[in-house]
Amino acid sequence: MALSEVGIRIDYFHKASDDYLRMLGVDRIRLPAREAWFETYAADYARAIEKRETFQLVWLSGELQIGFSSVDQIEFGASARMHLHVLDADSRNKGVGARCVIESVRLYFERLKLKKLFCEPNAYNVAPNRTLQTAGFKYLKTYETVPGPINYRQAVTRWVFEPSY
Ligand SMILES: CC(C)(COP(=O)(O)OP(=O)(O)OC[C@H]1O[C@@H](n2cnc3c(N)ncnc32)[C@H](O)[C@@H]1OP(=O)(O)O)[C@@H](O)C(=O)NCCC(=O)NCCS
Repeated sequence: MALSEVGIRIDYFHKASDDYLRMLGVDRIRLPAREAWFETYAADYARAIEKRETFQLVWLSGELQIGFSSVDQIEFGASARMHLHVLDADSRNKGVGARCVIESVRLYFERLKLKKLFCEPNAYNVAPNRTLQTAGFKYLKTYETVPGPINYRQAVTRWVFEPSY
């Protein structure tokens, strides 16, 4: 995802309904204002890849943006934590997410030299939990935490992907 495309992610959260944010475990009040959020990304995109705090991918079908994935909690050469989103509700549950996650995982490992990739969806959000299993992630545990700065305290499931080679 180019810096010019990060509005996809910013709009995705800002335009979401309260019910949808609740499903994601996101608290609207904690969303940074659009411009501030963009500036945070601009500063991060200016860093060398080894120093990045986030790394984002846009999922394309032809020229059409159909979803996105990002990682944060990056320890270059070691681990990161992934997020996954198909943009259009009508396009979900049709096999897109699993295929794009598999491709995203490959890119994260390649670009960030990872050994492990974690993902921690809300425990009650069925779609990502099913998708992670399909994409080859292994279930580790369910526990309560505040997953990140835009989240409230919630039960999450912790999954890990470790290549078998
Ligand atoms: C999570 C998400 C990216 C998955 O992508 P997707 O295209 O819907 O997933 P797929 O169609 O590839 O399905 C993958 C698996 O999940 C299952 N699945 C997907 N959506 C499901 C749902 N709503 N209920 C039950 N199972 C579901 C599929 O049956 C499939 O299982 P299988 O491989 O055992 O047959 C997408 O549903 C999404 O964007 N959801 C809203 C955002 C979100 O919750 N993101 C996660 C935040 S951590």
